[in-house]
Amino acid sequence: MRISFQSFSFSLNLSFLNMMWQASLSIFLPVLLPGALAATTYDMVKEFSGSTFFDGWNFYGKFDNLTNGDAIFVTSSVAKSSKLAYVDSTTNRAIIKVDNTTKVALSDKRNTVRISTQDEIGVGSVWIADMYHVPYGVWPAFWSQAPNWPTGGEIDTFEHWNMELHNEMTLHTNPGCQQVSPAQTSTVVNSTDCSFSSNSNAGCGVMGPNDSSYGAKFAAAQGGVFITEFAESGISVWFFNRTSIPTSISSNSSSFSIADLGTPVANWPTGGCAIDTFFKPQNLIFDITLCGDAAGNKAVFAQTCSGICYDDYVVGDGSNYNNAYFDVASVRVYSVAGTNTLVKGNSALTFRPSSWATLGVAALSTGAMILLQS
Ligand SMILES: *[C@@H]1O[C@H](CO)[C@@H](O)[C@H](O)[C@H]1NC(C)=O
Ligand SMILES: *[C@@H]1O[C@H](CO)[C@@H](O)[C@H](O)[C@H]1NC(C)=O
Ligand SMILES: *[C@@H]1O[C@H](CO)[C@@H](O)[C@H](O)[C@H]1NC(C)=O
Ligand SMILES: *[C@@H]1O[C@H](CO)[C@@H](O)[C@H](O)[C@H]1NC(C)=O
Ligand SMILES: *[C@@H]1O[C@H](CO)[C@@H](O)[C@H](O)[C@H]1NC(C)=O
Ligand SMILES: *[C@@H]1O[C@H](CO)[C@@H](O)[C@H](O)[C@H]1NC(C)=O
Repeated sequence: MRISFQSFSFSLNLSFLNMMWQASLSIFLPVLLPGALAATTYDMVKEFSGSTFFDGWNFYGKFDNLTNGDAIFVTSSVAKSSKLAYVDSTTNRAIIKVDNTTKVALSDKRNTVRISTQDEIGVGSVWIADMYHVPYGVWPAFWSQAPNWPTGGEIDTFEHWNMELHNEMTLHTNPGCQQVSPAQTSTVVNSTDCSFSSNSNAGCGVMGPNDSSYGAKFAAAQGGVFITEFAESGISVWFFNRTSIPTSISSNSSSFSIADLGTPVANWPTGGCAIDTFFKPQNLIFDITLCGDAAGNKAVFAQTCSGICYDDYVVGDGSNYNNAYFDVASVRVYSVAGTNTLVKGNSALTFRPSSWATLGVAALSTGAMILLQS
């Protein structure tokens, strides 16, 4: 209790300073939305799609020792032989999924996938994931982190768990990165302190305004695109469903202007947190885990599911996981026109430090908070 009280007063001081700073700024400056400063043009530098989608990713190849899920993140060869990561020959899209055909015995874990890019992507970039289906009834994420997390930060573009209805977008950083909500375009700001050491590493999360950004509604709308801008001026996320994708993106043009995208659904301007200081080149990651620290927390699980996460879902024939898959048309990486922000990575299998290891009760639900205190 003493530790959490100390960290609370520490973050309070920081946000007070920040508030004063923002308040003094706002007297002189109008609020500038990202993109309003200058219409940055981005050029495509890398595309993961079609039959070569899985080239350039490392498979984790070990049980989930990062978020304590009841899951084994399989090797590339197991993923291939058991068809947990493959390119669908009819659609030419990548499928990344949980095993839904094997009977798992009590005390065993279920196979699933976690992949991360060999290359890292530096500041001055955009990445766009075009997906037709995202996993639900599990804990999926499309996100990024720097190799030395929490140094270098983490950007969660797409994440939620169980049967929640909205996407949740979050940053996790070293202490000192604070967001001041009036400066964000996001409509529901869950928390403003991005530090991994505050609030059980809940991060500075923002809830997506669109219920077609996760779950069955995402699939019913034929999915859409998630666009992440990692710029010195700030980090922003846009979501467009299938019918509302801006033409410069849907036309597959190798170049687009950020001004084409309008207002982001989530953004974290550099004013509250110096992007260059807290964020370093990122590896993109897709993963799906089962139960685990956040999704399997009893109070969190009970918010949208009944029964016991492991006993009633993971164990058994796997039919609970027929919707636990990503269906990805492409992931494209762009750099500010005239630059290349790709940092060539190592193709050797590397294990990343946990970003969620301490997440625990990240959902910040009343139930979860009570659990934390007991
Ligand atoms: C997970 O396992 C890998 C490989 O054995 C190890 O390097 C890493 O430290 C482990 N991470 C945690 C959080 O235990
Ligand atoms: C898709 O997005 C458009 C534009 O925001 C919106 O009008 C429409 O209702 C959305 N469709 C679904 C299925 O959410
Ligand atoms: C998402 O929600 C925002 C805010 O309600 C709305 O302006 C936007 O059109 C929606 N986009 C989609 C794709 O539904
Ligand atoms: C864009 O590329 C995808 C495949 O990567 C294809 O399915 C789609 O038809 C293309 N769109 C246009 C407008 O060319
Ligand atoms: C497993 O899930 C896939 C969708 O990912 C579905 O097409 C398939 O029918 C399911 N398998 C079984 C045995 O239900
Ligand atoms: C974020 O806040 C909204 C509105 O209060 C809430 O519905 C949602 O569950 C919150 N998300 C998380 C992860 O706590």
